[in-house]
Amino acid sequence: MSKLLITKKINARPFVYRYRELYCDDVRLVGLAGEYGTPLYVYSAGQIRERFQMFQQAFAGEPHTICYSVKANSSLAILRLLSRMGAGFDIVSGGELERVRKASKAALKRVVFSGVGKQEWEIDAALQAGILIFNVESEAELHLLAARAEALKVRARFALRVNPDVFAETHPYISTGLREHKFGIDIKAARRIYRSASRYQWLDAAGVSVHIGSQIRDVAPFAAALERVAALIGELRSDGLDIRYVDAGGGLGIEYKDGVFDAAGEVARYAGALRGAARLMKTHMLLEPGRFIVAQAGGLLTRVLYVKQNGAKTFVVTDAGMNDLIRPSLYQAHHEVLPVQQARSGASSKLVDVVGPVCESGDFFARDRSFTSVKSGDLVLLLDAGAYGMSLSSNYNTRTRPAEVLVEGDEHQLIRRRERLSDLFATERLPRSSKK
Ligand code: LLP
Repeated sequence: MSKLLITKKINARPFVYRYRELYCDDVRLVGLAGEYGTPLYVYSAGQIRERFQMFQQAFAGEPHTICYSVKANSSLAILRLLSRMGAGFDIVSGGELERVRKASKAALKRVVFSGVGKQEWEIDAALQAGILIFNVESEAELHLLAARAEALKVRARFALRVNPDVFAETHPYISTGLREHKFGIDIKAARRIYRSASRYQWLDAAGVSVHIGSQIRDVAPFAAALERVAALIGELRSDGLDIRYVDAGGGLGIEYKDGVFDAAGEVARYAGALRGAARLMKTHMLLEPGRFIVAQAGGLLTRVLYVKQNGAKTFVVTDAGMNDLIRPSLYQAHHEVLPVQQARSGASSKLVDVVGPVCESGDFFARDRSFTSVKSGDLVLLLDAGAYGMSLSSNYNTRTRPAEVLVEGDEHQLIRRRERLSDLFATERLPRSSKK
């Protein structure tokens, strides 16, 4: 029988059933769970590369740099993989800057630094590292950047992150482009601030940036935001500024539900929406995709601890909890859950809640989900966990965070060992005992 016939590809994901058993590319998940334990993040290197290339191809017609948004998944091995493909990076902290440095020194010159609360030491470190551009989010930050650039005698390229007042349909916690949000500078005030910046000798007003939110499926708001930016750039140029960069931010969404998802088509549509305004501006485009590159490449592999019945409800309790993957609890986000051993066709299924062991009612992965019967010891996979999974994990309930494995075809590598309890205690001190 050909491989195609026995392989059921799940949408755009690298997780496939073969002989009713789930694989990541050509690696058995059962084997990975046996070798590294659970919960375990599993990523496909092939899919991360493929998604990055989709972006490269979609924007091939314009001068551009894809600055992968480190916050989506900041594991060093993933940053290294992307840096080898020529990626730049969008960072929001001095910590993320150090991650980029560890992954690739050469990539530092392709770093854009965003964030509403940059501290002096972070600005200094970025200036000294020679990053590409600062996305400045307030006038006060601009003054600090000017002062630090002068003190260190390093010219600082900056873009104001403007808030275009564009509404994008997404979860309110991850929408950023409205005037009421804390992000960016009111686009109406931008021209005045750019003018006032011209008195600073060590500042170079090199660009304009915008980011309207995350998990946005409709491309029209991206186009609307960029059109407003294009109008601003026209004004800035007439003021004599040499604007060379426009940073269109990140935010392109994916399909979390089971169904058809044409990733290449989505990026092409996105690039098409940005193209009009981009051509008008004749600038080097910077893009900051995070989720789109890594979300679907990753799954969280977890083992069923117990199946319990409370009244009419059935709970499947897994060894992963909200501290490992917080998206369902925090954003009511949907993640598909798959049994690693596929049930025979015709097997009965019932409505269950898939929950973790954390002591919070909000610790759930799925509610009232139709699921084939599972029992204690079975493995299940939470899909689309590659973005904002591990990077948002915590030690709540004094739980050690998962290990991470990178799959490359039929090979795999541990890229982060499982945390040990001793790692958790390493920074703590008991108070000296008092005399009383
Ligand atoms: N650029 C900036 C300035 C951002 O704030 C973000 C995300 C990105 C780029 C990347 O956006 P992406 O392409 O990944 O949508 N934890 C939430 C998402 C928070 C997004 C924060 N900013 C979630 O799990 O859905």
